[in-house]
Amino acid sequence: MKSVKIQLITDKMTMIKEPCTYVIFGATGNLSRLKLMPALYHLEVAGHLPEGTMILATGRRSWHREQFLSEVKNMLIAKARNGLDENVFEQFKQRLYYFQGDLTEPNMYIAMRELINNDPIFPQNVAFYMSIRPAEFGTVVQNLSDSGLLDEEQGWRRVVVEKPYGYDLESARALHQRLSCYLREDQIYRIDHYLGKGTVQNVLVFRFANLMLEPLWNRNYIDHVQITHSETLGVGSRADYYDGAGAMRDMIQSHLLQLLTLVAMEPPVSMEAEALRDEKVKVLKSIRPIPQNAIHTQTFRAQYEASILQGQKVKGYLQEDKVPKDSVTETYAAIKLFIDNWRWAGVPFYLRTGKRLAKAQSIISICFKQPPQQFFRANHIQHPNWILLGIQPTECIIAEMTAKEPGLEMNTRPISLDASFRKDDEVVKEAYEELLLDVIKGDRSLFLRYDEVEYAWQIVDPILRFWATERDYISTYPAGSWGPKESRRLFEKEEQVWRHSLKN
Ligand code: BG6
Repeated sequence: MKSVKIQLITDKMTMIKEPCTYVIFGATGNLSRLKLMPALYHLEVAGHLPEGTMILATGRRSWHREQFLSEVKNMLIAKARNGLDENVFEQFKQRLYYFQGDLTEPNMYIAMRELINNDPIFPQNVAFYMSIRPAEFGTVVQNLSDSGLLDEEQGWRRVVVEKPYGYDLESARALHQRLSCYLREDQIYRIDHYLGKGTVQNVLVFRFANLMLEPLWNRNYIDHVQITHSETLGVGSRADYYDGAGAMRDMIQSHLLQLLTLVAMEPPVSMEAEALRDEKVKVLKSIRPIPQNAIHTQTFRAQYEASILQGQKVKGYLQEDKVPKDSVTETYAAIKLFIDNWRWAGVPFYLRTGKRLAKAQSIISICFKQPPQQFFRANHIQHPNWILLGIQPTECIIAEMTAKEPGLEMNTRPISLDASFRKDDEVVKEAYEELLLDVIKGDRSLFLRYDEVEYAWQIVDPILRFWATERDYISTYPAGSWGPKESRRLFEKEEQVWRHSLKN
């Protein structure tokens, strides 16, 4: 048991961390402000950045270095855990450079190559982070290649690609073909930031470092699985992107299907990247395609309407800035999937996500079957056992069982065996911290291989194409609710209900 955990940890720890130049394209954008710069700073605080590592932030704005540094400082003041540490920032500053340029301009890449090649301050291992619009990925990589920035004579060159990886199956294939002209698969780091979350990785440890659950982890004992990601936030200022995407593309095609693979996969031969990804792909390949005539019974989509959320009046989706008044983009999506393999045949997996729901959280809920005989159900129906994996905000593993209520009568009630595993002094790390460091180490186990992306698109693509033909109506739900009640129609049985919380 222990050896699996130790192996996973030592593999990561023994990987060599060489100094590198982190080039961030889109460094003045939202992702960089909110996630990347804070993550790099926190790696500095923890002493994880290899000595000599440099950050070359690239953007269109004509900032000089001092201006850029003061911008970064403001980003960090807003996001640093425990406040900004001035001493650490002084050190971090030494790594930061700003490079102004237009991504569409080939000369920019030539100038960048000259800088990296000729100024000895920049290490020759280079990671390029695409924190830019997906439509620009292809052009940027082509330009990197044409200018010689992808040549590996002096050091490795890696490219980190943010989601969405394609808009549908066809565009994902086209993007892959284009990137493959210039990069080997092992140079491409496709990010799904969910894989950087502590409890998501804990699904693997929980399953494969413990023996207790394995005999139960199959269709003989598990009734169904629910994977829920709910947000209280609305679309905010992202309508430009979101209205063209919708919840199915934005969350289910990527993050939630990844969670499903971790819950459902077979034990890999090792925790090494290819072995892990082979098993995840096997799950995705085993998901039964949803035929057109089953789309209504296996999927549900809806949009939030103006209402009260946590005491505040909030707008409906159609009233949000930049959302077309006749948009039928879903802000809530739910799907029922079956995995046609030996372990999971007949067990429904319900995935759902939504914006402006009652509570912000991500949980995986595993519902067990009822015992074969019901001895204690005089007053009420026996509560099934659940295993609950809290991903955020609470990180925990809970086993819900039935116990006798104190007192003279034989009444039962559900109890929670709550294994919150984070000690008080252990801070929650942002997913990006680990992922950015893994790129430096060359560890691809928490990044997506292309076939994972392709199979995930194969699952959702027919649904999206069908939804695109139904443009005159979409169900709605009041902001602050748990989504449309009609989504219950996905359930196989009367007893199955959405599990909204870790506590019963
Ligand atoms: C992003 C989506 O990938 O994930 C967002 O584009 C979503 O719409 C976000 O809000 C959720 O991530 P997290 O880490 O906040 O749960």
